[in-house]
Amino acid sequence: MGLILAVVNQKGGVGKTTTSVNLAAFLGIRGKRVILVDLDPQANASSGLGIDKKQENTANTYSLIIDKVPLSDCLQPTLVRNLRVCAGTIDLAGAEIELAPLPNREQCLKTALAGFTEPYDYLIIDCPPSLGLLTLNALSAASALLIPIQTEYYALEGVTQLMETYQTVRQTMNPTLEIFGVVLTMFDGRTQLANQVEQDVRRYFGEKTFKTVIPRNVRLSEAPSYGQPISVYDRRSKGAEAYLKLSREVLKRTKLWKEKQA
Ligand SMILES: Nc1ncnc2c1ncn2[C@@H]1O[C@H](COP(=O)(O)OP(=O)(O)OP(=O)(O)O)[C@@H](O)[C@H]1O
Ligand SMILES: [Mg+2]
Repeated sequence: MGLILAVVNQKGGVGKTTTSVNLAAFLGIRGKRVILVDLDPQANASSGLGIDKKQENTANTYSLIIDKVPLSDCLQPTLVRNLRVCAGTIDLAGAEIELAPLPNREQCLKTALAGFTEPYDYLIIDCPPSLGLLTLNALSAASALLIPIQTEYYALEGVTQLMETYQTVRQTMNPTLEIFGVVLTMFDGRTQLANQVEQDVRRYFGEKTFKTVIPRNVRLSEAPSYGQPISVYDRRSKGAEAYLKLSREVLKRTKLWKEKQA
């Protein structure tokens, strides 16, 4: 069975979507069957992959969770072969409220994914910047977490709370949930601060921290406005090189992960 990775950090703007989109793209290019589920009402992952937010007739993540439309009917192709997306929508903002009174309110995504029988290698969930019900649904459904951390002031702020939520989810809804990895983003090696943050994160997360560090790279921030992952927009950029490298590390880790599960 495929690996379900929730890309999560309740801090806003740390590179969750950039990492979801570009890691998904490079895993697809490497021949893996990848599905990206955009769980964020902002739907940045969807627009970053060229999906039109106003496609009202297309089933999306809201349809999947609330209307119980099968995942196979919610998937749209992208520019990248092997990569399909379940699009986000502003309607997801209301989904938090609609889920609240349900008895299985944290398990709706998990239930939806359990009904999906097509083979895949990775299902990547791009989470919104909160620890609300949508994110809890992702944590319940996931095999493991992928945590992007921006190498900036207050980088580790909020990480304690994220780890507490992770432990609670393990004790209640998803005992096999693990941390797949932590990736440092928007790194500017010229600054003392970035280097200090890198050290702090590596001390806190140890081996879980990926060797690959994503540099601050303007091409990565331009690509979404063209609706393209970096692999299409500028394959030779430093940002593309970094996400390609990260995808290699992810593949290696997946192999170890599978051996451990077996
Ligand atoms: N390595 C990078 N270099 C330069 N810009 C980046 C990089 N990574 C992300 N950005 C830019 O920083 C902003 C925030 O990134 P992104 O949207 O990926 O974060 P996020 O965690 O998904 O945000 P949100 O919490 O709002 O969902 C975006 O404008 C993005 O283009
Ligand atoms: Mg985002």
